[in-house]
Amino acid sequence: MSFSPPAYPYDRLDKLKELASTFEGGPVDCSIGTPVDAPPAFVVEELARASGARGYPPSAGTSAFRDAARDWLARRVGVEVSANALAACVGTKEFVGTLAGYLRLRQPERDTVLYPEISYPTYAMGATLAGLRSVAVPIRDGRLDLSRVAPDDAARALVLWSNSPSNPTGALDDLGAVAEWGRRHDVLVASDECYAEFTWSRRPRSILEEGTEGVLAVHSISKRSNLAGLRAGFYAGDAKIVDYLKAVRQHAGFMVPGPVQAAVALAYQDDEHVERQRERYRYRLEVLADALRSAGVDAPMPDGTFYLWCRREEMDGWALAEFLAKTAGLVVSPGELYGPTGSNFVRVALVQPDDRVELIAQRLRS
Ligand SMILES: Cc1ncc(COP(=O)(O)O)c(C=O)c1O
Repeated sequence: MSFSPPAYPYDRLDKLKELASTFEGGPVDCSIGTPVDAPPAFVVEELARASGARGYPPSAGTSAFRDAARDWLARRVGVEVSANALAACVGTKEFVGTLAGYLRLRQPERDTVLYPEISYPTYAMGATLAGLRSVAVPIRDGRLDLSRVAPDDAARALVLWSNSPSNPTGALDDLGAVAEWGRRHDVLVASDECYAEFTWSRRPRSILEEGTEGVLAVHSISKRSNLAGLRAGFYAGDAKIVDYLKAVRQHAGFMVPGPVQAAVALAYQDDEHVERQRERYRYRLEVLADALRSAGVDAPMPDGTFYLWCRREEMDGWALAEFLAKTAGLVVSPGELYGPTGSNFVRVALVQPDDRVELIAQRLRS
């Protein structure tokens, strides 16, 4: 049977955009989580110098890139890993989308990807693209309910994805319990931590705090430094797996462009711009959560991320998305895009400038 790629999730929102565009002042699009604020000027200046443009860049990352990522992990998350147990990826989406296929080549007797039932769609897509099974793990109180993974699925699993803070729910998982489950079942845990800097209810956490054996942490510069357009991130953890992935990914030709590696190394050395970004997101989350509540929407503040995960009684996610488009010109993502059990929710991404968020708040109140 041949494979036809499904519609890209966000291409399904055209009708909502049309409904929202009748407002004076235009629609406010909070559907896709793409950062809108300016990246740090010193990073852009480094890009313009184009250091590292001439030769092919190392696939695993330059030593400056890897040292900066290692130092960032030590400084912000408090974990020490060697720069050799860490390697670059071309933004984390490609890593998420290709990991399962490469793990399958290493362990052909296994054929399954485990992923959170409400999650970023690329975990399951990575299985599909590699011709593998994807099995959703139920979520209870925002955390993976690993007691409900069937023994046969655990035995067949190449990888278990976790995502804390979670896109779309904003919940934090118990990474200690997740790492322990992975080791007990001999299943690699890939912990997507790309929102770690935007953890609100406690300090940022990484699965690497549980040790590196049998785990990978995945980090991105996209959200942290408003650099989604540069396409860079890294993965770190179990030395055997990192070495294997470095080798296959080099053969496949994954390389973060040299000038990007130089710029991202600088971005990882600075925390001040991230502190400012945290304040922006926190302000926007609070303003919009409050206004949504005044319109009868249940909109709790998340423990992490810049997303509100909301519902309104007697409406499913598509109906609520339509309601918000019609009454406030606000475009959001229906929760179904993140899995069937999210279908009564919507996700609101606070990736619009303050004045646009304030405009939506005003519309919701009037
Ligand atoms: C949970 C999660 N993982 C990974 C990514 C991919 O980010 P990037 O490819 O920009 O690093 C995203 C982007 O929205 C995300 O939400």
